Amino acid sequence: MPTVKCALQGLQKSYGPREVVSDLSLSVAEGEFVVILGPSGCGKTTTLRMIAGLERPDRGTIAIDGAIVSAPGRFVRPEHRAIGMVFQSYAIWPHMTVSENVAYPLRVRGIRLRERRERAERVLDLVGLSNEGPRPATALSGGQMQRVALARALVSDPALLLFDEPLSNLDLKLRERLRTELKALQRRTGLTSVYVTHDQAEAVELADRIVVMQAGRIVQIGRPQDLYREPRTRFVAEFIAAANILPAIVLAATAPGVAIVRTAAGFETEARHDIAASPGVPVDLVIHPEDCTLLAPGAPAQHCHAVEVLGSRFQGTGTRYTVALHGAPFDVLVLGTDEPLAPGTPASLRIAPGRARIVPAT
Ligand SMILES: Nc1ncnc2c1ncn2[C@@H]1O[C@H](COP(=O)(O)OP(=O)(O)OP(=O)(O)O)[C@@H](O)[C@H]1O
Ligand SMILES: [Mg+2]
Repeated sequence: MPTVKCALQGLQKSYGPREVVSDLSLSVAEGEFVVILGPSGCGKTTTLRMIAGLERPDRGTIAIDGAIVSAPGRFVRPEHRAIGMVFQSYAIWPHMTVSENVAYPLRVRGIRLRERRERAERVLDLVGLSNEGPRPATALSGGQMQRVALARALVSDPALLLFDEPLSNLDLKLRERLRTELKALQRRTGLTSVYVTHDQAEAVELADRIVVMQAGRIVQIGRPQDLYREPRTRFVAEFIAAANILPAIVLAATAPGVAIVRTAAGFETEARHDIAASPGVPVDLVIHPEDCTLLAPGAPAQHCHAVEVLGSRFQGTGTRYTVALHGAPFDVLVLGTDEPLAPGTPASLRIAPGRARIVPAT
């Protein structure tokens, strides 16, 4: 069993009459990168702030490294929790040098200047800012400032790193680069991390496990691949990937976990599930555009359906088509840079076997 580095049990938090985090339990293993993903206002920041000790839960317990830091009648102040935190705003002191900014948490703890300098240098090295220590902090770019903020979070050797949308103020290119660097750094150091974002691409790339939150509650936890392939609700399917979601009803159960369904438009397919899918039950059919492809019309292959191209958008790595499937719009992602098929072109839609899934109807 991996060591549990951070355990949340039954956390609850209200602001006035509004409950914003409800009965939230989560266990983060040592070395794990957990991403909390959910729409704006679902309680991500509140959860992170409770772990940090910046908010007091109304109910529940928080343990870090096996020690209870928050429980009824017990509350360890943030400065006494072994955590490092990186926020969306860099929170860099403008009147200090880069090195002084990074070493600031050590100064607060009364650590000697020489040790402060050494440790600041070590973490600046880690984030790729080896020679920037003596520079004034204001001379840095946004990306460099966020690296300084990361170095400052690392300097006290925290048991747990907390991130709250740290990359969302940066432009797309830089965001993608820092994302890759951050993941590499986390792998190298093995630092247990909890990272909050509402950006699914960021979550999918960074996470060992994604925790999907909706309205203060965890709705699903799993590896990014699991959430893609086995969303338990329409909300998860829509949030993790822009999937096709088609209202349907169950026609028959063919095998355990497999059923034949028919969409409102009359399209029939086999789909996987882990719900009670008896005939007549209304469901939502989930099919990812990237699990589909377009072939020449009349292709004899199994799992093929006649469609007509309605339109297409070139997306660099591929073309996203909208086709008419039994008259209803359906998205297909075709990889490559081929010239797109014109609207009106008949084609054959092939859905990779075993990839269609049904979730309870909404
Ligand atoms: N100090 C506060 N006082 C009152 N309400 C608050 C306070 N902090 C947060 N809230 C409310 O609690 C809810 C959850 O807020 P939270 O900041 O945790 O959301 P979030 O998931 O981080 O959203 P975002 O993606 O926009 O950052 C929101 O409705 C917010 O308005
Ligand atoms: Mg937030």
